[in-house]
Amino acid sequence: MTRSETIKVGVRIPGEAAEYQIICGSGLLESTGDVVRTSLGEDVRRAAVISNRKVFGLYGEAVELSLKRAGISAASFMIGDGERFKTLRTAEKIIGFLNTAGIKRGDAVIALGGGVVGDAAGFAASLHLRGVRLVQIPTTLLAMIDSSVGGKTGVNSSFGKNLIGTFHQPAVVIADVSVLATLDPREMSSGLFEAVKHGAISGERLLRTTEKMIDVRSRDPKVEAAETRAVFAKGITEHVKFKALIVRDDAREAIGATGSRSRKILNFGHTLAHALELATNYRYLKHGEAVGHGVLFAAELSKRLELSPADSIKFLNGVVHRVGGLPTVDKVGFEAVLAALSNDKKSRGGSIDWVLLEGIGRPVIVSDSSFPGGTVRKALRDYLRSTNR
Ligand code: NAD
Ligand code: GLY
Repeated sequence: MTRSETIKVGVRIPGEAAEYQIICGSGLLESTGDVVRTSLGEDVRRAAVISNRKVFGLYGEAVELSLKRAGISAASFMIGDGERFKTLRTAEKIIGFLNTAGIKRGDAVIALGGGVVGDAAGFAASLHLRGVRLVQIPTTLLAMIDSSVGGKTGVNSSFGKNLIGTFHQPAVVIADVSVLATLDPREMSSGLFEAVKHGAISGERLLRTTEKMIDVRSRDPKVEAAETRAVFAKGITEHVKFKALIVRDDAREAIGATGSRSRKILNFGHTLAHALELATNYRYLKHGEAVGHGVLFAAELSKRLELSPADSIKFLNGVVHRVGGLPTVDKVGFEAVLAALSNDKKSRGGSIDWVLLEGIGRPVIVSDSSFPGGTVRKALRDYLRSTNR
C-alpha cells in the first residue's frame, strides 16, 4: 500500500496556532523531510531526533536521510528503552542535548519511537527555550492511535505515573504503518488493548473497526500484507479522528469538565492501569496491558454499580479477550495496588473520578465518594484473583 490518508485535526487552544496534520499511511518515513519542511516552514534548519537504540537502528537512517534531502541538518539522541526511563532525569538529558545541538526556537524536536519516547521528548521540547516545535513519528500502534495525538507529554516519578507533564501539541504527526512489521507481538496487543478502550467510550462503530484490526492481525501478525496495512491505516485514522474530536473541545482536560465528551473520558481504564503499573514498578506490564486490565475492571465496576446493561459488558469483555492473553495480576499485591490508588486519590483532592460505562459509547464520570462503602476494595480483590482462572 502506498496510498496515504491525510486527516487534519483541529485542536484549538487560545493563543496557540494549534491546528496540525496527522498523516497516516504506508512508506511515509522516506518523506519525513518534506513533511517537516511543509508543516514547519522555512525557519527550520536543524532537527533533533530523539529515539532509542532499537527504533533508531531500524528507522533512524531513513528519517535522517530524508531530513538531509530537505535541507534540514539532523542530530540524534538516544534515551533508554522502556517505561522506567520515562523520568525527569531522561528529560533533563534530552534538554542538555538540545542545548548542545543548538536547537533554536525555529527548529524541531522529532520524537521517533513509541509512547515513552514521544512523552519524554515532547516534555523536553515543551521546556527547551519555553517550547520548540515537536514532530511526532509514532512507531508503535499505541503511539499511533493515542499518545502522539493530543499534546499530553510527561514523565513518571515515585509518586505516580504521568503526574509531571505539560500540554504541548505536535506540529505534525507522521504515522507510517509499515514500521509495525518489526513490532513485538506483545506490543501490538498492547496497542490493540488501548484501541479497545477508545472503542468502548466512542461507540459500537469504533469498537467494530477495532475488532477488524484484531481479526486481520490474527491472520497477519506482522501487518505486512497490503490489505492488512490498509485495514490498520483506516483503523488508526478512525481512532485518531475520535481522539481529535475530544481533544479539540477540551484540549487541557478542564478541571470542571465531567461531561460524556470531556477529555477525562480518555482515561477510561487508566485508574487501575496506572495503579498496577506503579505497584509493579513499571516493569511487569506493558502500558496497554495495564489498560486492558483497567478496561475489564472499569466494566466490572459499571456492572456492580448497575450502570451498564450486562450484555454491553459481555460484548466489551469479549473484544478485550480476542486481543489475546493478558498477564495475570493475581500475584500483584492487593495492598500495593490499593496504596497506589489512594496515592492517586490524595493527588486529586481526596476522591477519584472513575470513568465508567452506561453502555458502549456512553462513558460517565463518577466520583468514588458516591460508591457504596467497600465497592472498589471488594471488586479489586475479586478482579485480581479472577485473572488466574
Ligand atoms: P514504548 O514506547 O515503551 O514502546 C514499546 C516497545 O516497542 C519499546 O521497547 C520500543 O523500543 C519498541 N518499539 C517501538 N517501535 C518499534 C518498532 N516499530 N519496531 C520494533 N520495536 C519498536 O511503549 P508504548 O506502548 O508505545 O507507549 C507507552 C507509553 O505511552 C506509556 O508511557 C504511556 O503512559 C504513554 N501514553 C501517553 C499518552 C499521551 O496522551 N501522551 C497516551 C497513551 C499512552
Ligand atoms: N490518553 C489520554 C489523553 O490523551 O487524554
